[in-house]
Amino acid sequence: MEGVFVNSLETGNPEAGLDTIRLKLLAKRDDIEIMTQTVLPNAVFWVTPADDQETLEFFFIFDGSVELALDGELRKLLPGDSFYVTGIKEDILLKTEQETHILYVTNRPVFESLFGFHDDLTRLLMRINDKDHYTFSHSKNVMRYSVKLLEQLKDEYNGVSVDDMVVAALFHDVGKCFIPDEILKKTDELLPSEYRYIMRHPVDSARLLRKNFGERVAEIAQNHHERIDGSGYPLGLTSDEISLEAKIVAVADVFDAMISDRGYNVPKEPVDAALELCSMTDKFDKRVTSALYALAVSEEPDCIGGA
Ligand SMILES: [Fe+2]
Ligand SMILES: [Fe+2]
Repeated sequence: MEGVFVNSLETGNPEAGLDTIRLKLLAKRDDIEIMTQTVLPNAVFWVTPADDQETLEFFFIFDGSVELALDGELRKLLPGDSFYVTGIKEDILLKTEQETHILYVTNRPVFESLFGFHDDLTRLLMRINDKDHYTFSHSKNVMRYSVKLLEQLKDEYNGVSVDDMVVAALFHDVGKCFIPDEILKKTDELLPSEYRYIMRHPVDSARLLRKNFGERVAEIAQNHHERIDGSGYPLGLTSDEISLEAKIVAVADVFDAMISDRGYNVPKEPVDAALELCSMTDKFDKRVTSALYALAVSEEPDCIGGA
């Protein structure tokens, strides 16, 4: 995503950390992360070897001090000093005497790992819940509707794994964890600079999912805001370039937003929302919206709608 992104003290950038170290994410693109690191007094911490020899980690001390263990000797670094680490084979030990603030730039996704995204589905889901309860319940609803729609459309798809659909739909918005809180929860119209954060979330969702679940799941998550006329984001793909699964999640996503109470909207009745989506033939796949309408008018009480 191109553009200028401003961080101020009020921006509320995402934070993660351990007992003695707190990281604040200032900027991120692909695996490059730029953070501030706040280290408590008398803390000991390490820079560890990376799997990838291309990894580079840069530290600039802007207040406090750091003692760096180099060749068995402690070297004291003061404000204005910096060091970088690349291709190390062993841990590098660091110590602080007082609270210390460090600018930390790395092409190794440290922040992302601290968030615990890679390993544990439950933690991933809990992270969404901590960040924004609406996104958490929305994620579960989108999964439920997507699976129902997939069942309705089983003659249209070939070899689509329901498991892939469950994972992609459940975690389609997980990239929102990188959006500052006050932008994610803002109910007024977003500024263009704020909207750019929103536009990045499908790419971040895909990147997080790709590592564990592969390209197919990643594609579904990345394309859930694409529209068949090319007016969506992040890439402006058109119908032929979007999988049926991504088109299903797109419909389930908007449908849930239309029928849910998000605190600033009047929720629609499921049948009305489905009918409105059916009329948006330039945006959504007709097969999917027709299937949704059929579900919405069905007599199965828990079929669609509700929490
Ligand atoms: Fe989304
Ligand atoms: Fe969503």
